[in-house]
Amino acid sequence: MNFNSKSVIEKHAYDLLKDGIKNRDSLFHTLVFSNFDGKNISNKVMVLRDFNAAKRTLRFHSDYRSDKAKLIQANNKASVIGYDPNKKIQLRLTGIAKINYKNKKTKEAWNDSQAISKKCYSVLDGSSHKISNPKKYDFHMKEISVEEGYENFCTIEFNFMTLEFLYLQRTGHRRCKFSWNAKGKKESFWLVP
Ligand SMILES: Cc1cc2nc3c(=O)[nH]c(=O)nc-3n(C[C@H](O)[C@H](O)[C@H](O)COP(=O)(O)O)c2cc1C
Repeated sequence: MNFNSKSVIEKHAYDLLKDGIKNRDSLFHTLVFSNFDGKNISNKVMVLRDFNAAKRTLRFHSDYRSDKAKLIQANNKASVIGYDPNKKIQLRLTGIAKINYKNKKTKEAWNDSQAISKKCYSVLDGSSHKISNPKKYDFHMKEISVEEGYENFCTIEFNFMTLEFLYLQRTGHRRCKFSWNAKGKKESFWLVP
């Protein structure tokens, strides 16, 4: 593919993210989300649940009791990265993250989720706790009511302010960055790869 045009690149990046929502084989289906606690950077793989190009938002699902949910509420700066070695494309995004908990957005996301995903939120005590016996935290579908997991469910809404696209090719790489100001005005520029 020819990536000599910034508009082609922007559209292609959005197509990859859109495809990543439902396509489990896409390497953009599981992205690395990173945030910062003021001292350390914390990275985690998360499943991409939704992408809205017009709003520049990505949606992830998580446990409200998790470290990441607490971290985001303390410091909303975050970044997301994905790379597909077959396509030789890396996407890097930076922006701010917001937790949705027990509101209209979480209700919609919960209602769209399958039971297999919902069951994770019924796990005892919530994620990131120190435990002595991991077996105690196994899923026992017959013993839980998956709908009760909603109590622990949250969505992470990541609004990106920059998107950087890197394409590796033998004859010369292509690296292009898009950035949006607070009013949504976009700038784009090529970078030395
Ligand atoms: C393939 C894969 C997909 C994952 N998807 C999610 C996800 O969608 N949401 C989530 O909270 N954690 C997900 N995890 C687990 C996180 O990477 C992380 O280990 C966990 O959420 C605890 O992070 P924390 O202690 O920083 O909160 C996934 C892990 C893997 C390997």
